[in-house]
Amino acid sequence: MRLSRYFLPVLKENPSEAQIVSHRLMLRAGMIRQQAAGIYSWLPLGYKVLKRIEQIVHEEQIRAGHIPLLMPTLQPADLWRESGRYDAYGAEMLRIKDRHERDMLYGPTNEEMITDIFRSHVGSYKDLPLTLYHIQWKFRDEVRPRFGVMRGREFLMKDGYNFDIDKPSALHAYNRHMVSYLRTYERMGLTAIPMRADSGPIGGDDTHEFLVLAQTGESEVFYDDRVTQLKLGDREVDYDNWDEVAGVCKEFTTLYARTDETHDAAKFAEIPEEHRKVGRGIEVGQIFFFGTKYSEPMGAVVVNDKGERVPVQMGSHGIGVSRLLGAIIEASHDEKGIIWPEGVTPFHAGIVNLKQGDGAADAACEALYKALAAAGLEALYDDRNERAGAKFATMDLIGLPWRITVGPRGLEKGVVELTSRRTGESEELAPEAAVARLVEIYAAHR
Ligand SMILES: Nc1ncnc2c1ncn2[C@@H]1O[C@H](COP(=O)(O)OP(=O)(O)O)[C@@H](O)[C@H]1O
Ligand SMILES: [Mg+2]
Repeated sequence: MRLSRYFLPVLKENPSEAQIVSHRLMLRAGMIRQQAAGIYSWLPLGYKVLKRIEQIVHEEQIRAGHIPLLMPTLQPADLWRESGRYDAYGAEMLRIKDRHERDMLYGPTNEEMITDIFRSHVGSYKDLPLTLYHIQWKFRDEVRPRFGVMRGREFLMKDGYNFDIDKPSALHAYNRHMVSYLRTYERMGLTAIPMRADSGPIGGDDTHEFLVLAQTGESEVFYDDRVTQLKLGDREVDYDNWDEVAGVCKEFTTLYARTDETHDAAKFAEIPEEHRKVGRGIEVGQIFFFGTKYSEPMGAVVVNDKGERVPVQMGSHGIGVSRLLGAIIEASHDEKGIIWPEGVTPFHAGIVNLKQGDGAADAACEALYKALAAAGLEALYDDRNERAGAKFATMDLIGLPWRITVGPRGLEKGVVELTSRRTGESEELAPEAAVARLVEIYAAHR
């Protein structure tokens, strides 16, 4: 993409309505525009990051054996009357009437609808286990939408639902989700800690929230700081191996880490003092096991291997896809702007032409742009007639992790400059070598 032809409405001033840094930077970098309280348009740069995040979520769900589908945003109220949640959900649910005066709602979540799909098409243990998920917009009429996409009213969520014949199988599904979520967040450059949580309105037996540590987080968290050192890294996990998956979950949930809802002061006091931490966190996902809470009232029944009819065992598992943009920025920025982790960056590299109109500089930039594209890397080429300082400021604000700077002086020596946004360190390289370096860097993030 050439910046002169792109749509990147950056703001010079700090928007006064933004209270936290991620919201401020998303507005300043021209990523989102608020259309109503808690409802946003995703401008091209924001949309690109949203799609990258969505893609990682899909890849990791599919790797875990989960199956994508797509359910609508609008749902008939009758389904929710069956589970008893139509009245229980309260004012957070946006209720709508169609022209025939039928009660509809904009889905805040999809347990009822997926249970309806399941009961209509599955009747035997032979078709289990099954996990279906989608990535779809949700609406919750939050009392206090705030912090930009962090607590919106309309927001994008991945929600998945497992169906299993018995509790051990459903617990394996729960564990499989935990591991797939850990992988998902790591690929986005995040450390998200699974913390035992309260089950809230979804209701059930077992639940963990995934929290990214940040001062601006809405949840108070209590943890042994050694949990922040745990990494999955590039180890392969066999999702069909129950013991292996459970082992990974054990590794990540043994050290103390809880939100204020389940905090246990006595247990917390047992942690060596130097590791005992109280802080704040952003909830970027949550997994639930709830057994037959929906299958029983809604009649989602399967025949087991003894010929008996039993309600299916279920759980639901959510990732806050749109919230993740805010969480990533909270975790990765400096005074100049955003610093995108390689896994989610909207463009792989920026190209800054120091002297637009100079024959050699223009040609070198064009050649770099094409070479990167040929290597499967997307560049944002700042080809505007602007001062170098202004071009650098834009690149720093929008946070591309790598910048190639091209100018007549370097070209005389046959080099361009490759700069890391994170460290600020620069390296002089032949243009081909800069491309090769970027190929190598991004190969580690595929
Ligand atoms: N209002 C919101 N705006 C943005 N993301 C949200 C919002 N509410 C929930 N999410 C995201 O969706 C994920 C799954 O939702 P869920 O756990 O059902 O919500 P909640 O924790 O509000 O009950 C949450 O972990 C969070 O990341
Ligand atoms: Mg939650």
